[in-house]
Amino acid sequence: MAILPIARMGQPVLKRRADEVPDPTAPEIRTLVADMFETMLAVNGAGIAAPQVFVPKRVVIFTVPASRSTGDEYDQPQEVMAIVNPVIEPLTEETEPGWEGCLSVPGLRGTVPRFKKVRYRGYGLDGELIERVASGWHARVVQHEFDHLDGILYPQRMTDLTSLGYVEELEAAARGTPEAAILAAED
Ligand code: NI
Repeated sequence: MAILPIARMGQPVLKRRADEVPDPTAPEIRTLVADMFETMLAVNGAGIAAPQVFVPKRVVIFTVPASRSTGDEYDQPQEVMAIVNPVIEPLTEETEPGWEGCLSVPGLRGTVPRFKKVRYRGYGLDGELIERVASGWHARVVQHEFDHLDGILYPQRMTDLTSLGYVEELEAAARGTPEAAILAAED
């Protein structure tokens, strides 16, 4: 395993559509996921997409930390999981704003409207079909990570750029409120 360099906003690899993976069970995909996992742990992330490590393939890994789970039926804590060639559909037109950060946009946070409930499908590393419904933070993290596969970073999804700021400043301004912990949490 290896810790990989992370592409930052401005890198062309983050702007292009990533390629479909012909065989999710291929050994190189397993190696890629292991390296993504090690990289994510090293930088305390909650999710990472292959383009963020300069690999333009449709592969993401993510977790739903217990600290972020809303406890909703479709937003339970989730160990780190990998998904290949994911597709997503909103199950409601309703969106809700929430704080996001990104390993490719270090040091910043902003509020992003995301669909409250989605269904997603893709493949696991053993080739098994994964199909899930997600709400709350689970829905948010998959929308964020899957966007990376289409060359989209969260600032492009923001509708109110006045919330964009440096995490230390936002955290200081929110000190003493529950929001401070959310701001300080994983990218
Ligand atoms: Ni990101």
